[in-house]
Amino acid sequence: MHETGSCVPSGGGDSWWRSAAIYQLYVRSFADGNGDGVGDLAGVRSCLAYLADLGVDAIWFNPWYPSPMSDAGYDISDYRGIEPVFGTLADADALISEAHAMGIRIIIDVVPNHASDQHPWFTAALAAGPGSAERDRFWFRPGRGPTGDEPPNNWQSIFGGPAWTRVTEPDGSPGEWYLHLFAPQQPDYNWGNADVRHEFEDVLRFWFGRGVDGIRIDSGALLTKDPRLPDVGLDEPPGPGHPFTDRDDVHDVYRSWRAVADEYPGRVLIGEIWLPDAARLARYVTAGELHTVFNFPYLSCPWDAAALRRVIEETLALNEPAGAPATWVLSNHDVDRIVSRYGRADTAFDLLRRRYFHNFPVDLALGTKRARAAALLTMALPGSVYIYQGEELGLWEVQDIPDDLRQDPIWRRTHGADPGRDGSRVPLPWSGTEPPFGFSPPGAVREPWLPQPKEWRDLTVEAESASDDSMLRLYRDALGIRRASAALGDGPMTWLPVADGGVLAFDRVPSAPGTSGGDADGGVRCVANLSASPVELPPHAAVLLTSGPLADDGLLPPDTTAWLSV
Ligand code: GLC
Repeated sequence: MHETGSCVPSGGGDSWWRSAAIYQLYVRSFADGNGDGVGDLAGVRSCLAYLADLGVDAIWFNPWYPSPMSDAGYDISDYRGIEPVFGTLADADALISEAHAMGIRIIIDVVPNHASDQHPWFTAALAAGPGSAERDRFWFRPGRGPTGDEPPNNWQSIFGGPAWTRVTEPDGSPGEWYLHLFAPQQPDYNWGNADVRHEFEDVLRFWFGRGVDGIRIDSGALLTKDPRLPDVGLDEPPGPGHPFTDRDDVHDVYRSWRAVADEYPGRVLIGEIWLPDAARLARYVTAGELHTVFNFPYLSCPWDAAALRRVIEETLALNEPAGAPATWVLSNHDVDRIVSRYGRADTAFDLLRRRYFHNFPVDLALGTKRARAAALLTMALPGSVYIYQGEELGLWEVQDIPDDLRQDPIWRRTHGADPGRDGSRVPLPWSGTEPPFGFSPPGAVREPWLPQPKEWRDLTVEAESASDDSMLRLYRDALGIRRASAALGDGPMTWLPVADGGVLAFDRVPSAPGTSGGDADGGVRCVANLSASPVELPPHAAVLLTSGPLADDGLLPPDTTAWLSV
């Protein structure tokens, strides 16, 4: 038995993750316990009851490890500790136990593609010099050209600029270059090196042993590289021949990780795998590899019935052969907040086009209405669902952060052409009518690390808890019904015929009779109207929940979703 400390929640058994509602918690911006303007674990512990009330089954924490914070913690200098600004390992242990006692499971983020340039392995590699065993854990290569002052190949950083940085050797001479697919402060590991493989298996055991229930694997398709490091065509799609994306040998890594996870009952591995090709994506959830992968096609999909239906069908088809549950994600810390995205003329999300989107006008009322409808659609689909903190409050993308306060390396590395991701990471508003809206305690010595819009006074947890028609109330009600119903979460779904192509309608019927005796026990019929006109509700016994008021004649208005009992 590997468990230390906390009792594990029993809800959902070992397969809890197949139906779970998972709250993505961005520690920096959730709640500040000590008044330094940055969220921390003390803040999280004081707000666990909020998450229990909201009705989530698990929390996924963005990286909480010691980090120089060149990429908000995705540059880790110690995989077995807690960032001092966030707290201590003892705080994490206490948090895990307290969450478990409330029936909430804990998922953490592991970043295996790259280290921090302050990680002891990397500083040792710099000191040890060319050809050393220390350098072999990363990708060091001589430069090209007569003096070696050109990068070893043409790869570009995902954050902008070249993917190589030249080092100064211990003797002071200009030296080798190292690979970083993200910022220069994030050197890529060499997964061909046995130390790297052993180290990460040990890191998994370290956290599973502390009671962590799941691992979100950062940049999961990028780990392995073609050791010849060939140039790559700028438009070359990912695939088996690609030198650093979705290579076949990355699956060896996940087979070994799965063997580690299987030593601990009820643990889950979740891949952050951005791939356009559904068939390639499906390979990550085949037997003996990851349990689930994030649904980025759904997250990127425009607010359009035909496009959504296509993505939903493709998602189910992708997961079905492996018997893996689908995941449904509307937003996260890397993408524009959903309320803003749905309030623009172009409602799709595209990482590469973010720089243009931010110049488009946003209709917040329309975006909010659609986000409410999308929330009910999403929570009715079969599988697990992710809620990015603040989504339950209807927060919008903050597009007017002053340049000198922006923190995202994407902003700097593209020289401001891409606004980056800070706008989705602004600290949560909890209470009161003025910033910091209860994010920091009274008498805090610093302002929140990113400024909060003053209009968020209407979107605080306090204000929304007092209102019957707030986004928060909708999320609480929906999650409550979803948890009580044997029909929702994992299981089958059946499309209903619709007269209007702008409508999505489907049934969720329990495979086994429910035990809760709730209204939704016979099944839930979900109808989302994405068309421009009101539509009739299909036959039903009762209306369980709607994302907005029905019309006086009982019709379902545009951009509205209803859950019906059948
Ligand atoms: C993932 C993370 C993102 C981070 C990047 C590099 O995409 O979600 O926030 O910047 O990996 O680690």
